[in-house]
Amino acid sequence: MSWPDWLPLRENLRSLSPYGAPQVPAQAFLNTNENPYPLSAELQKAITQTVSKVAAQLNRYPDRDAENLRTKLASYINGLSKTGFTFNNTWVANGSNEVIQSIFLAFGQRAALGFTPSYSMHALIARVSNTPWIDGTRNSDFSLNTQDAIAQVQQHKPTLTFITTPNNPTGGAIAIAEIAKIADAVKDVGGLLIIDEAYAEFSDMVSAVTLVSKNPHVVVIRTMSKAFAFAGARVGYLVADPKVVDAMMIVRLPYHLSTITQAVAEVALDFKEELLAGVGTLIRSRDLMVSALASLGLTTVESEANFILFTGFPQDAKQLWSDLLKKGVLIRDVGLSDHLRVTIGNEAENTLFINALKELI
Ligand SMILES: Cc1ncc(COP(=O)(O)O)c(C=O)c1O
Repeated sequence: MSWPDWLPLRENLRSLSPYGAPQVPAQAFLNTNENPYPLSAELQKAITQTVSKVAAQLNRYPDRDAENLRTKLASYINGLSKTGFTFNNTWVANGSNEVIQSIFLAFGQRAALGFTPSYSMHALIARVSNTPWIDGTRNSDFSLNTQDAIAQVQQHKPTLTFITTPNNPTGGAIAIAEIAKIADAVKDVGGLLIIDEAYAEFSDMVSAVTLVSKNPHVVVIRTMSKAFAFAGARVGYLVADPKVVDAMMIVRLPYHLSTITQAVAEVALDFKEELLAGVGTLIRSRDLMVSALASLGLTTVESEANFILFTGFPQDAKQLWSDLLKKGVLIRDVGLSDHLRVTIGNEAENTLFINALKELI
């Protein structure tokens, strides 16, 4: 992007472009790891009724601390992980990206370390918030070697260390015992370990929220965008020690989460059983997709998320990406040579994708 001389844009932003996957017309949208299943008619109705109820209060600012929603999020996590969190352990914002931004605003002091390839917004928000970012490394099969990760923490002594599990864009998850070892190393350098669990509901691994009560330097980020099929509502949250949450209050904008967002997120949490049932369907479709890709001679990276990274196609990744788009299938070129990432869609979308691939490779 080029900038005019008169624009006093900060120096460290001048070479950046806006983040975002292409939003272009397609028949199958398999590029942003959304949940393909729309909310049920019953849930849509409950949301509509709630919005019409809170519409009468929109002259007033929202509950600045979103206490009811945070209480519900804490009890959702307690139900999944047998923990004992209260609203004091949770913080909620407009998507987990806003949570990540708040973490950088509060704690981005010395440097931030992440093990790439991983969720690229971590590095981008570091840059935007003026925090030096260190690209840590993984094994060549994209798994994370615990000893290596610990050595990188000890070498760089970051204030923030990011682990995404299941990792985006590769899909692999990390066992809790390994996370605990990395957490010890992070504690020794006086930092926070940020575990981004955006895709946790798609994985069988024990959540890092189980480490929080004994390890106040462990912070877990979750979202309602994926398993909850609620990406359009923009609700992300963290689970952490109450002191971390207090720090979020310092950096957040007053009234950052609208009355409507808070109210509809609470309704969605009331429908959690129904919404999470869709997760089982997506996991079964993921397994079918892995087999279908293998039968086309392609190699997949083991995934515990709602997407699959694959390789082994004859053409350049960019070429295959655009050929698929011409056939109505939008997937993601994540910038890894010879690899592409596909989100698990509904049955029709998955079939369209596999049939298109068959014709192209
Ligand atoms: C690992 C990871 N973290 C966070 C997010 C952001 O999610 P949201 O801001 O919708 O909660 C994403 C979105 O794709 C993601 O992949």
